[in-house]
Amino acid sequence: MSGCSVLARWGGAQLLAFLPQTCQWCPRLRLLPPGGHGPPLLTLLRHLYCGRRSYCITGSVQCDPLLLSPLLVQDRYCYCTMATFTDKDKYTPPADLPTKYAPDEVHRYMVDCMLAVGTPRPQATDLADVLVAADTRGHYSHGLNRLEMYVNDVKQKVCDGSAFPTIIKESVSTALVNGNNGLGPVVGNFCINLAIKKAKETGIGWVCARGSNHYGIAGWYAMKATKEGLMGMSFTNTSPLVAPTRAKKAALGTNPISLSAPAKNGDSFVLDMATCVVAVGKIEVERRKENPIPEGWALDKNGQPTTNATEGMEGALMPLGGTELYSGYKGYGLGMLVEVFCGIMSGGQYGPHIRRWMQTDREADLGQCFVAIDPSFFAPGFEDRMSDMMDYCRGMEPADPDKPVLAPGDPERFHVEKVKLEGGITYHINQITDSWKLAQVLGVQPMK
Ligand SMILES: NC(=O)c1ccc[n+]([C@@H]2O[C@H](COP(=O)([O-])OP(=O)(O)OC[C@H]3O[C@@H](n4cnc5c(N)ncnc54)[C@H](O)[C@@H]3O)[C@@H](O)[C@H]2O)c1
Repeated sequence: MSGCSVLARWGGAQLLAFLPQTCQWCPRLRLLPPGGHGPPLLTLLRHLYCGRRSYCITGSVQCDPLLLSPLLVQDRYCYCTMATFTDKDKYTPPADLPTKYAPDEVHRYMVDCMLAVGTPRPQATDLADVLVAADTRGHYSHGLNRLEMYVNDVKQKVCDGSAFPTIIKESVSTALVNGNNGLGPVVGNFCINLAIKKAKETGIGWVCARGSNHYGIAGWYAMKATKEGLMGMSFTNTSPLVAPTRAKKAALGTNPISLSAPAKNGDSFVLDMATCVVAVGKIEVERRKENPIPEGWALDKNGQPTTNATEGMEGALMPLGGTELYSGYKGYGLGMLVEVFCGIMSGGQYGPHIRRWMQTDREADLGQCFVAIDPSFFAPGFEDRMSDMMDYCRGMEPADPDKPVLAPGDPERFHVEKVKLEGGITYHINQITDSWKLAQVLGVQPMK
C-alpha cells in the first residue's frame, strides 16, 4: 500500500505515529523532532500525500498537523493560507524589527523577491503594485501575506513569471486572451488595459482570459478603468472552497466580484467582494482561539452548518448569505455567475475542475473577466447621479451614532488615508518576521 493510501485512511493521531523520521524522497527534509510538529512535519505530510518529489522541495504549509488530517482523510483542499520555505526557520530575526513601512519600501522588497526567483522587472512590478495596493487598502490577506505564494509558484515553475499574455481572438469590443500561465496581475493589467481601449472606442470592452493565475484584489483592475473616467468590472474564479447550497462539498471558489464607477470630484463607488461569507483564514483564527464561529460561515464534513471552527475547517465555506434560510443560494448564484464570465466564457478551468487551493501540481489555468464601460455612451450626468446616490446614503441617520452609513469603497478609502497619515503601512509583527526570513532565504535586502 502506498503512503498515500495509508494516510488517506488515517486520522491525526495515528498519522503522527505513522510518520517516519526521514523522507525517502526529499533529501532536504529535516528530521522530525520527537512529537514535534511545524513546517518540516507538514512538508512531509504533503509530500506523502501527493507522492510527488517536486511538491515539497521548496515549500511546506503553515498550520498545525492535526489540521492536515481532514485533508488527508477526505481528499479535500488544503486549508492553509500560505506556503513557506522550510529554510526560513533557520534564521532568527532581530528582536527590534519595526512594524511600519513606507509603501515604496514594501514595493521595493516585493520586486526584489520576485527578481530573486527569475521574474523580469516589469512583471515583478505589476505584481508588487497590486499587492501594495491591497495592504494600503486594508486587505492584508491579499498583500505582503501572499507574496510567498507567488514566489513559490514561480520558483517551482508552476507559474511562468516571464510570460506575457497574447490575444487569441478579438472584435472591436471583445477579446479572448491567453494568459500563457503568467502572473495574474500581468494578465489582469493587460486585459483591463485592452478593455479600456475598446471601451473608449466603442463604449464597452469585454475581455475574458484563460491560462491565468491568482491576480490579487479584484478591485485593482476595476479601479484602473475608473481612473480613465470609465466603469470597470473584474471577476476571477478560484480554487473550490465554497459549497453550493444543499451540497456537502465545495465546488466553487471564493470568486470575487468588483465594480468601480466614477463619481464627482474624484469620488467613486468601489464594490469589491468575495462571494462567500468569510475567508477561510477567519475560521482558522477562531479555531486557534477555541472560539465558536457564527452559524452560516461554514459546513461540517457532512454538509451541515456548524458553529464549531474545527468542524468548519474540515468542511466547506458557505456562499454569501449562509444557509438556505438566509438566502445563501443567492451567494451561490453569484459565485456561479462569476464562473460564467470567467472559466466558462474563457475556456479555462472552472468550478470543481480548478486545482485545489495551494496545490501546485499543475498549472492553475484560471479564468478571469475584465470589463470597461464608458458611461458617456449612455445618459449624460452619470457622475452627478453617482455622487448623489452615494452621498444620500452616507448622509442618512445611522442606527448607531458611532457608525456612520458608508458607501462601498469607503472603508478602503479610510484605510488609504490612515496609511498616509501614519506615513506607512503597519503590519502584524509575525508578518514582518516572516518577510525578514524570506529575505534571508532569497538573499534580498529585508524591508527597512
Ligand atoms: N483573487 C482572489 O482569488 C480573491 C478571492 C476572494 C477575495 N479576493 C479579494 O479579497 C478582498 C476582500 O474581499 P471581502 O469580500 O472580504 O471584502 P470585504 O467584506 O471587506 O468588503 C466587501 C465590500 O464591501 C464594502 N463595505 C465594507 N463595509 C461596508 C459598509 N459598512 N458599508 C458599505 N460598504 C461596505 C467594501 O468597500 C467592499 O467593497 C477583495 O479585494 C477581493 O477582491 C480575492
